[in-house]
Amino acid sequence: MFEREHLVPQTSVLQTTTPRTAAKVPLAESSILRAYAAMTPGSARLFARADGIFPNGVTHIGRYLQPHPLYAERALGPRKWDVDGNEYVDYFGGHGALMLGHNHPAVIEAVTAQLAKGVHFGASHELEIEWAELVRELIPCAERVRFTVTGTEATMLAFRIARAYTGKSKIVRFAGHFHGWHDQVAFSGAELPAGIPAAMASSILIAPPGDIAHFRALAEASGDIAAVILEPTGATFGHVPLPAGFLAELREITARLGILLIFDEVITGFRCSPGGAQGHYGITPDLATLAKVIAGGFPGAALAGRKDIIGALEYKDAGARQPAVPHQGTYNAGPISAAAGIATLRLLRSTDLIARANRAAAAIRDGLNSILRRAGVAWSAYGEFSGFHLFTNPDNEPVTPEQIQAGEVSWTKLKGGTPLALSHKVRTGFLLGGVDVVGWPGGVVSGVHGRDEVDRTLTAFEKLLPMLSDEGEIG
Ligand SMILES: Cc1ncc(COP(=O)(O)O)c(C=O)c1O
Repeated sequence: MFEREHLVPQTSVLQTTTPRTAAKVPLAESSILRAYAAMTPGSARLFARADGIFPNGVTHIGRYLQPHPLYAERALGPRKWDVDGNEYVDYFGGHGALMLGHNHPAVIEAVTAQLAKGVHFGASHELEIEWAELVRELIPCAERVRFTVTGTEATMLAFRIARAYTGKSKIVRFAGHFHGWHDQVAFSGAELPAGIPAAMASSILIAPPGDIAHFRALAEASGDIAAVILEPTGATFGHVPLPAGFLAELREITARLGILLIFDEVITGFRCSPGGAQGHYGITPDLATLAKVIAGGFPGAALAGRKDIIGALEYKDAGARQPAVPHQGTYNAGPISAAAGIATLRLLRSTDLIARANRAAAAIRDGLNSILRRAGVAWSAYGEFSGFHLFTNPDNEPVTPEQIQAGEVSWTKLKGGTPLALSHKVRTGFLLGGVDVVGWPGGVVSGVHGRDEVDRTLTAFEKLLPMLSDEGEIG
């Protein structure tokens, strides 16, 4: 449905195994960045103000872009417009939250109705029950639900509960998997970033992603592992795919050794299927963290899981001063987020929006790969479900998308392979063609991205390749 033929500019024909030799044009001299700057004077003006207030002039490092970030003014469906009136196909999708696209009428209607009734009652309310009932109906492991506001809080709470429930102290994470920004998850190797206490390194064990033998040996050797957490489609929504069978083996080992299995479904929840990745794969974890889609673009997240484990949050008797595991939060289960979440989850339950998003993403991946193959560029587009990723192949090795998808390419190459300068050129180059991709580079597709969006994306990519070639970035 989304397929079409593409003409490939002759200037971009490159050899797949030849090392890059041409000197790369530095960002300050890049004509791609210059063209982007010429197209976005309004963004430049706003950035001049922001630069004196925010670190790097931005409020999220994922939005950092040279010579200046894009300043959006409005958005609708799969598109957004910047302050200069330029229109873009949007692959940020509210950092993955907008499975229904921007301003879906059902969400706007529900939120508007709730705004008139109240934004924060400081009391229990019916919408929070309906929201949690939907989560319980859709997500297989969700016998009990506790709402938080962000995914970061949900993973933090998951670790606390896992330690309290098991009486063990260590959490295993996989290198490259993203679980937010709190101290326990903000490092991937032995070297801790500034500001993170050294003690964190002894309570968090970091395992190589996708290596089940390593995990099995680690788990069998230590009697002190409370839980293992992972992104069930591989790091960053499949940016680093897992080998086949990994999840099933992980489930078997953790069940046998009394280690809790936590799926971080902050991105995959209600996206891979209405039941998240666990619903799709038929593998049920003990706990799951949910955010993004769960609240339809508003702030909202949850920890869901087995009732005996989540029960650690309960008062045990009338004499207790506090539950075994304390957890508060001013904005937990806010009624506006609940209203948006309910409208979103109902639609995802009853329509084919997830399948539509998957089809559009597959058409983008196929289209990008056919352009790359015809141009002889040794990059790959890959991914699953409603995501796409571009492997920019730093060593110019002969690698196929199938090999990446099978988990045969190292996570450091996939996740750290694109230097910031190239990422900036890819992003600004796509913006010139009216497409806003995320910096890894890649994107997240919604249920309302259709053929027009796919075509515009592929056309932008066809124009981008010769520009990158001219700047010594490919070939
Ligand atoms: C898999 C995963 N876990 C956790 C988080 C953190 O969620 P939040 O940004 O809501 O704190 C993210 C955010 O992108 C995520 O992708």
